[in-house]
Amino acid sequence: MTPVRIRQACAADATSVADLVQEVYRPFTAGFRPTALKWSADAVRACASSWLMAHTEDELVGVVHHTPDPAGHTLDALSVAAPWRRRGMGTRLVAAVEERALRLGTRRMAIALRDSLGANIAFFTSLGYRPAGPFPPAHHLYVKEIGARE
Ligand SMILES: CC(C)(COP(=O)(O)OP(=O)(O)OC[C@H]1O[C@@H](n2cnc3c(N)ncnc32)[C@H](O)[C@@H]1OP(=O)(O)O)[C@@H](O)C(=O)NCCC(=O)NCCS
Repeated sequence: MTPVRIRQACAADATSVADLVQEVYRPFTAGFRPTALKWSADAVRACASSWLMAHTEDELVGVVHHTPDPAGHTLDALSVAAPWRRRGMGTRLVAAVEERALRLGTRRMAIALRDSLGANIAFFTSLGYRPAGPFPPAHHLYVKEIGARE
């Protein structure tokens, strides 16, 4: 099995990160304008350290951007390259974000999910995210408490 590692991005990664985000979110433009398409290479470079990358020795597998937010630590532009989907890579990227949120002292994750994207809702529900109320227009906020002691 090809080993996949997750690491923080740096400025030199900005173009490959932006290329993957654009490739993954372009198909959605048939239905709406995905906010993730705002991520040009310059925009990624300006905040490179808040991106995580999943990669093999020679291939970028997935990326995610994450930020603290008053509603909870949040993530966006989660992108897994099509050939790598349903192999646990999205799960690993979100877990890596949650680990960093915990290190920052955050106990709550929050993400707004578009109501029409059933696959995304299924994905985040599988990770323990639960709807917490409408997030207009056309989204609901999903939250997850993290770091609870057994
Ligand atoms: C959504 C996305 C990040 C999921 O990444 P992934 O690596 O394929 O997800 P995982 O393999 O970790 O999936 C974990 C679980 O989530 C659920 N899930 C994932 N993709 C799903 C889909 N298309 N339909 C239904 N459930 C899905 C399943 O329960 C899955 O477990 P299983 O494969 O054992 O059934 C990926 O499909 C993607 O990049 N999509 C395009 C961009 C996007 O929509 N990003 C999210 C924005 S909020």
